[in-house]
Amino acid sequence: MVLPKVSREYRSQGSGYRALKLQESTVSQPQDSEVLIKVHAVSLIFRDLLVTNGAFPGTKENVVPCSDMAGEIVAVGSKVSAWAVGDRVCADFTLDHTHGEITPQAQATCLGGPIDGVLTEYITVPAHSLVRIPEHLSYEEGSTLPCAAVTAYNGLTGPRPVKGGDWVLVLGTGGVSMFALQFAVASGANVIVTSSSDEKLKLATKLGARHVVNYKTTPKWDEEVLKLTNGKGVDHVIETGGSGTVEKSVGAVSYGGYIHIIGAVSGGDAAIPIFPTIFKAINYRGIQIGSVEKFEEMNRLIEARQIHPVIDKVFSFENAPDAFAHLESQKHVGKVVIKVA
Ligand SMILES: NC(=O)c1ccc[n+]([C@@H]2O[C@H](COP(=O)([O-])OP(=O)(O)OC[C@H]3O[C@@H](n4cnc5c(N)ncnc54)[C@H](OP(=O)(O)O)[C@@H]3O)[C@@H](O)[C@H]2O)c1
Repeated sequence: MVLPKVSREYRSQGSGYRALKLQESTVSQPQDSEVLIKVHAVSLIFRDLLVTNGAFPGTKENVVPCSDMAGEIVAVGSKVSAWAVGDRVCADFTLDHTHGEITPQAQATCLGGPIDGVLTEYITVPAHSLVRIPEHLSYEEGSTLPCAAVTAYNGLTGPRPVKGGDWVLVLGTGGVSMFALQFAVASGANVIVTSSSDEKLKLATKLGARHVVNYKTTPKWDEEVLKLTNGKGVDHVIETGGSGTVEKSVGAVSYGGYIHIIGAVSGGDAAIPIFPTIFKAINYRGIQIGSVEKFEEMNRLIEARQIHPVIDKVFSFENAPDAFAHLESQKHVGKVVIKVA
């Protein structure tokens, strides 16, 4: 195969997604331990909005945004033996986070932040960052896995992994939350989903949610969750809301339960309430995406249960800024994807 010499890529000016600049760059050929990937699809995450607004700490100037892609290997370095041209792959969100806990050194290799990301036609990455895409998934579906799916899976499989019959509370119907719903259902748990929209909650029910709660029409949703669990509360909260939701998550969790601190979509500046935390012996766990090892483990569950990611809408590469606008509108359920090739 004749290797490409140029790649079209978007670069951020730090002044919003409408200012993303589509330009050409030279394709760098893979070094000994690297592979060159033809990017087929990219999926967006909440952080991409902050990165393109210049509001995400530690972002490289004029960065190529986005962290989540699925593609096909088109060239391998001379020392790469585990991968071949034609393999369908994703790169881990954090290129050097191969296993175990995150480190500051690995954190410096998060795609689409401190280093250039994946909103490009071709990308070179180290072979150790790669994960094979489950066979039953398309490239668009595969592109949704690196951040949202691995984060949800990591949340549910920490020191006390989710078990059949556990209760899991999932906040909202965004990317992380829909994967958490699907993985928890696949693991035999009872899942409660909250959302601002009854329409979105209908989809959550179709995906296996046992109960749904509209947090707009039921502002005391923590009390509702306690009622639904016969006063006990949930074993796990997938906490994507942050300051605006954490007090109610504390109300909704069981004694000794886990609150997995993941996101901050609700804004606000409330702190974790100390006394209820002590009385209920609550466990908080900060989640930072996950390693290549976690990603591979998650893919085994996805394959075993033939899980298909929830994709809300697919945009063309040329219309990538519209995909950002759609994510920002929060009209979506699950993932927003850009088809690149
Ligand atoms: N720590 C990590 O490793 C990690 C990894 C991935 C993401 N995150 C973070 O997790 C958060 C979610 O990410 P995402 O990619 O899933 O975002 P997303 O796809 O943009 O989802 C956002 C959804 O959050 C829900 N929401 C907004 N305000 C809410 C509130 N007050 N209460 C409950 N739900 C609310 C909305 O759902 P409804 O419309 O249904 O109400 C909205 O659609 C973000 O803060 C992101 O940065 C962290």
